[in-house]
Amino acid sequence: MTRAPEFTVAFGRPADPAAADGRLDAAAFHRNHEAIGTALAADLATMQGDVLEIGSGTGQHAVAFAQQAPHLVWWPSDPNAEHRRSVDAWRAHTALANLRPAAMIDVSQPDWQWSDTTPSPPLAAIFCANVIHIAPWSVAQGLFAGAERHLRSGGKLYLYGPFKAHGEHTAPSNAAFDESLRTRDPAWGVRDIDDVNALARRHHLAPDKVHTMPANNLILTFTRI
Ligand SMILES: C[S@@+](CC[C@H](N)C(=O)[O-])C[C@H]1O[C@@H](n2cnc3c(N)ncnc32)[C@H](O)[C@@H]1O
Repeated sequence: MTRAPEFTVAFGRPADPAAADGRLDAAAFHRNHEAIGTALAADLATMQGDVLEIGSGTGQHAVAFAQQAPHLVWWPSDPNAEHRRSVDAWRAHTALANLRPAAMIDVSQPDWQWSDTTPSPPLAAIFCANVIHIAPWSVAQGLFAGAERHLRSGGKLYLYGPFKAHGEHTAPSNAAFDESLRTRDPAWGVRDIDDVNALARRHHLAPDKVHTMPANNLILTFTRI
């Protein structure tokens, strides 16, 4: 993907304007997408079917992973209209045959639904990066409830971001980030792996691999049982 540093987005903060066609560029994407792609490579290579992305933001992860796994169909989504415009602009820009238009999905709605129009509704995977800490806990609850409904047996949920472990931050930078999140909104904050795993088990999702990522981030992997 072409780097386009002249139009940027820092989620939750004022950002530079988008490109004329609506494409946004997140600096964090350039720092993290290769490591995420490497961590998920083996799974994506053997998976077949549809992958739903929750909280796609700019759409750059959708493009990167649709390019990485052309045998999968990637379904981006976001509740934010400006972000959906960016996703769709990246889609038009890259013309990827396996990347679908951005859907309006707000996982804080407990009964959120994924497209009814696809021939094979049970999803192979759901990917969600950098969402549940920049949102109330109800968003994590809605995400897992929907994953229970929409993932096929053996399907995967991938959750990327910073996490606490057993009540403790794993790095001072994550503690500072957590503090800044809670200052902006007391309902936001870095989530604890134990709480996320307990939520997952209530929704028939078994905690699976944990990938250690750069900058004190993790990918938590869950398997639908
Ligand atoms: C920090 S951005 C992350 C974007 C992208 N996943 C990434 O890692 O670059 C968080 C995204 O989550 C979306 N979001 C916020 N609340 C949401 C909700 N209730 N359901 C789904 N997405 C949500 C926001 O609109 C935003 O695009």
